This record gives sequence, C-alpha cells and structure tokens, in this order.
Amino acid sequence: MIINDSGTALITGASSGLGAIYADRLARQGYDLVLVARNIAKLEMLGERIASDTGRTVRTIGADLTDGGALQRVEDALLTDHSVRMLVNNAGAGSTVPLQDLDVVSIERIVALNVTALTRLARAAATAFLERGGGTIVNMGSILALAPEVLSGGVYSGSKAYVLAFSQALRNDFGDRGVRVQVVMPGATATDFWELSGMPVEALPANIVMTAEDVVDAALSGLAQGEFATLPSLPDIDQWDAWEAARRALLPGLSRTSPASRYHMGS
Ligand SMILES: NC(=O)c1ccc[n+]([C@@H]2O[C@H](COP(=O)([O-])OP(=O)(O)OC[C@H]3O[C@@H](n4cnc5c(N)ncnc54)[C@H](OP(=O)(O)O)[C@@H]3O)[C@@H](O)[C@H]2O)c1
Repeated sequence: MIINDSGTALITGASSGLGAIYADRLARQGYDLVLVARNIAKLEMLGERIASDTGRTVRTIGADLTDGGALQRVEDALLTDHSVRMLVNNAGAGSTVPLQDLDVVSIERIVALNVTALTRLARAAATAFLERGGGTIVNMGSILALAPEVLSGGVYSGSKAYVLAFSQALRNDFGDRGVRVQVVMPGATATDFWELSGMPVEALPANIVMTAEDVVDAALSGLAQGEFATLPSLPDIDQWDAWEAARRALLPGLSRTSPASRYHMGS
C-alpha cells in the first residue's frame, strides 16, 4: 500500500545487512528506491520483493564502489535523477586483523569504500540537493569512531572516525541550506560484516550484539527526531551531548599565535 510520496532514496550496500533493512523500511515510508551493491542478483531479488510488498518503484545499480568508473555511474544517478531526495551512504567493509597482518590491498579497499566512495557520493548528493531545494544524507559510521581500542587493526576504526568528522563538517557546511545530515553509529550488529571481516559474529558476547532491524529502526527514529548523531545502543544521550560540549569547548584554544605556557621550557 502506498502511504505517501517521499521521493527516491539511493541506498548503497543494499544487498544485505543494514542496507537491505533500510530498503525495506524506507519503501514502507513511501520512498522509491535505487539500490546499489556489487551483487546484482541479490539486489534484484530484494527489489522485486519490496516492490511487490509496497508498490514502490525499485531500481538497481550493480557497482563496485571501489572502482572509479562504477562510482562515477552512481554519482551520475544522484546528480541526474531529480527524484532522489535521500542518500543512505551505507556500504562499508572492515577487518579484524592486526595491522601488521593486514595486506595492503585490503587496507586500500577499506579506505576506498569507507572513505573515498562515501565522500564522493556525499559530495554528489549535497550538490544535487542544494539544486533541488533540500535532501537528506545518512552516513553510516560506527561506535569505533569513539572507541578505536575495541577492534585491532585501526584502519576500519580510523575510516569511521573520518565518517564522523566528515559528517560534522558536512552538517556545518550544508545544514542551514536545506541538506540534512545524520551520522549513525551502531555498535556490533548481527550481519555478514563480521564473517567478511575475519571473525564470526558468534565470537562476540551475545549481550553486545544488536539485530540489523533494531539498528535501522532506531536510526530512522533518530532521523525523525532530528538527531545529527544517532547511537542506537547508548542508553543516555546526555553522555553524547556532554562529549560534544567538551569538544566544542576546546575550539577557542586549538589554534593560537604562541605555544601553551606548559611548553615554555626555561623562559
Ligand atoms: N555489522 C556491524 O557490526 C556494524 C557496526 C557498525 C557499523 N557498521 C557499518 O554498517 C554498514 C553496513 O554493513 P553491514 O553490517 O550491513 O554489513 P554487510 O551485511 O556486510 O553489508 C555490506 C554491504 O556493502 C556492500 N559492499 C561491500 N563492498 C562493496 C563494494 N566494493 N562496492 C559496493 N558495495 C559494497 C555489500 O554488498 P555486495 O557484497 O553485494 O557488494 C553489502 O550490501 C557498513 O558501513 C559497516 O561499516 C556495521
């Protein structure tokens, strides 16, 4: 049943996990969909099911977002399809391997997907949404942006710290010009991500793992409430607000003409 017409949401990494749940939920909210991932067969199967359940229009783009040409096709879709009003920048990959054992190809793949592709797609979406009078960019971060010690290797956590900082800058640059930005920071979530990253999700304590459905439903609730940062697990949002206030309190002292007095040795 069609509830309303919200425009089109383009979702990356929609063939499984969080992206597939976003596709289901956003179609039920009245969005048409463009689904992006490498596995076109899975995308088409999901798209047919969602179209039949919701009556929405679902298109698919098979694209490896670490490939420049494929990434350009998705950027073009954002720029030329004037119905697109939301980008869910969700595709991502990780690793649980210690840095010294992580091969260079894997490092480059994680950075290309989690950082470069996310950035280029957000740039295209922001450009398009400014022209269209508004839109929403959802960037998929992780609690590892705040807690890099939790997972060895550093590259994945560092990429998610980038997503947080980039989202803060995006909000600063575009937030008052009709482009909404949300960064979602889930904790451990039961998806294929863990197996693909070198550790079965069953190896984690069960009491720290959330379902993908609960993560996405919390993220969409946070979006509806106007949150910039949504941390689905965090019981007390005052803790995030205090962390953010402490960060902002640093700003006036971070760039000055002279070193701080504690560095004036012997003078
Ligand atoms: N699971 C967690 O514990 C957790 C926690 C916090 C944040 N996250 C983040 O949540 C996001 C979604 O992950 P998930 O947990 O749902 O894992 P997932 O089930 O493995 O989904 C990852 C998605 O990204 C797509 N993808 C991977 N490489 C790609 C590439 N080169 N080009 C295009 N698409 C690609 C995959 O599809 P194809 O293989 O078909 O390309 C898949 O649809 C990621 O950004 C991840 O970092 C996950």
